[in-house]
Amino acid sequence: MTSQPAHRPAAADTAGDTAAPALEVDGVSVRYGDVVALDGCSLSLARGRVTGLIGMNGSGKSTLFKTVMGVVKPQEGAVRVDGADAQVARAGARIGYVPQTEDVDWTFPVSVRDVVMMGRYAGMGLTRRPRAADHEAVDAALERVGLTALADRQIGRLSGGQRKRTFVARGIAQDASLMLLDEPFAGVDKVSEATIVRLLRDLAADGRTVLVSTHDLHALPELADEAILMLRRALFHGSVADALEPQNLARAFGMEPPRMGGAA
Ligand SMILES: Nc1ncnc2c1ncn2[C@@H]1O[C@H](COP(=O)(O)OP(=O)(O)O)[C@@H](O)[C@H]1O
Ligand SMILES: [Mg+2]
Repeated sequence: MTSQPAHRPAAADTAGDTAAPALEVDGVSVRYGDVVALDGCSLSLARGRVTGLIGMNGSGKSTLFKTVMGVVKPQEGAVRVDGADAQVARAGARIGYVPQTEDVDWTFPVSVRDVVMMGRYAGMGLTRRPRAADHEAVDAALERVGLTALADRQIGRLSGGQRKRTFVARGIAQDASLMLLDEPFAGVDKVSEATIVRLLRDLAADGRTVLVSTHDLHALPELADEAILMLRRALFHGSVADALEPQNLARAFGMEPPRMGGAA
């Protein structure tokens, strides 16, 4: 064991290089056969902010998340978390992931508590035997998302909103510094939506970084500090108000307005 200085400088960091972006996607291209899902996609997220990821179906949002999670291997480009290859953050379980509903097998025989406990596996070693601290973290995370009473229910027997909250709880139990949420509001009741928005704001206030894809443009001003418009790459990254400007939305949704002035 190396000795630690008794007093760390005030600016000493806890998770990697805090001068580096929390997430940096650099020239990432992903093709599935003939389909180009991401085409030289680059973006950078600062710590402690909620960023909305907006784009039409097929614009590459889920592929972007899967690339950061290492589920999809890009043909080109790099993904860095806290300045290091994303693999380092994945190995340290620093990235929380709420997959889109279609990407989860809801018939899998696990309970809500089991899923949340998965967030603790990385710290358990090979035995995967939870200790008191793991049970406490899981209980606290369940409490925070309001699922204590449903902890022993099989995940297929949950409402849409409860399913999403289960995976948010996994990220909380995991103590993830970067949270990726793929359409957490799709098929979700208003109470769950409000709960998730509040949790994401709290996580960002704690200094965590949140990237959340959503179709719900109305919720964006309350949810997000900034927004990215996606169409195989980040077309726009800026304030929510600017992202919602019609000319910017039109580009992202493939409805480029006709040019004025009679150019050829
Ligand atoms: N596993 C796959 N095999 C083939 N094509 C895929 C696969 N996953 C996604 N795609 C295609 O890649 C493009 C981007 O998809 P996706 O990342 O799911 O977008 P989004 O999440 O924005 O709807 C779409 O054209 C989609 O049909
Ligand atoms: Mg998707």
